[in-house]
Amino acid sequence: MLLLGIETSCDETSVAVVRNGIEVLSNVISSSRETFEALAGVIPEQAARMQIECMLPVFERALQEAKVTMTDIDAIAVTRGPGLLGSLLVGTVTARVLASIHKKPLIGVHHTLGHLSSTWLEDWQINSTDNSQFSSRACRGINFQFPILTLSASGGHTDLWYRTSHTRGKLLGRTRDDAAGEAFDKGASMLWLPYPGGPSIQKAAEDGDPKQFEFPLPLHNEDTLDFSLSGLKTSLKYLLRDLYRRSGGASLPLPDLAASFQHAICRHLVDRISRALDRHPDVKEIHLVGGCSANIHLRKLTADLLETNGVYPERQRRMRVPKSLNYCTDNAAMIAAAGEFMHQELREDAFMKFETRASMPLENITSG
Ligand code: KG4
Ligand code: ZN
Repeated sequence: MLLLGIETSCDETSVAVVRNGIEVLSNVISSSRETFEALAGVIPEQAARMQIECMLPVFERALQEAKVTMTDIDAIAVTRGPGLLGSLLVGTVTARVLASIHKKPLIGVHHTLGHLSSTWLEDWQINSTDNSQFSSRACRGINFQFPILTLSASGGHTDLWYRTSHTRGKLLGRTRDDAAGEAFDKGASMLWLPYPGGPSIQKAAEDGDPKQFEFPLPLHNEDTLDFSLSGLKTSLKYLLRDLYRRSGGASLPLPDLAASFQHAICRHLVDRISRALDRHPDVKEIHLVGGCSANIHLRKLTADLLETNGVYPERQRRMRVPKSLNYCTDNAAMIAAAGEFMHQELREDAFMKFETRASMPLENITSG
């Protein structure tokens, strides 16, 4: 199927055209990030106003880049929640209007199911003239092997999933307080680094020593797969206070601080993955998705963990991350992919009526 995807859950406006949940024909993302950079966060009403303005140009460009018209589209998939309500409504109202005018079925997608689907996406534009390579690339989607352990870590959520298919699975753990991206964002603000915090901490950490400052490993002695990140932020606050006192206000070692804080967050995430693998030895693949999956240090620590596990060849597992950084952070291609997979597995139920909601339970991401 050829799906039109629409995503407007936070400050971005994104429209994509995706074939069969894998081949991305276009994925246009317009973000008001620069507007909110100086404010270190998003102002919901302002974000929604900006989305109203850029929705139509983004939609038109997505069709243009994919070289299709609405007649070619088989169905529309749109993020129905969770997120900022005003922003979500811009996307869902647009989708409902398009579905009604062009008589297309409509699929309401849980934002998290979008992230979980993002590892399947392939950039179709590259090599699209080379048919042989294209067909082998397009077939790659079928090499995925469930059960898959997926860490979904972004600014709004941090979850660990054991998945037996695209739409079936178990939520093993979730954050009890801050999300991983939120921890990066708050930490960056304490270090006077720009929003969003993840990329700026990663950059500042490039020449730093991740072992220079020690942070606690949250929940390590508790029998749980949950996450807890707000304590790391508090540790950073006290560390900064002590360093200021000791140095009498002289400049702080920013690269070491950024590297150590980044390591503390990533070490906690990977500690949960390691524990989940012990409990679920049948897991075949490990996927990292969501904004934080763009983090190079997180990818490296996860790869190191799997290498250690690889001493038992029968347990060697494959790590996958989204194939482009644009598929890590919020984008409409992942929503179109999720819509396709919902249709493949739930058939007509995928077209169920839905409400747009700011908060939605995670436990059952394909209904309600
Ligand atoms: O998935 P996403 O675009 O939006 C939500 O659904 O929240 O994730 C945004 C979050 C931000 O908190 C940002 O700081 C974080 O992802 N992020 C990163 C990186 N790039 C974005 N965190 C760590 N390292 C990165 N390179
Ligand atoms: Zn997201």
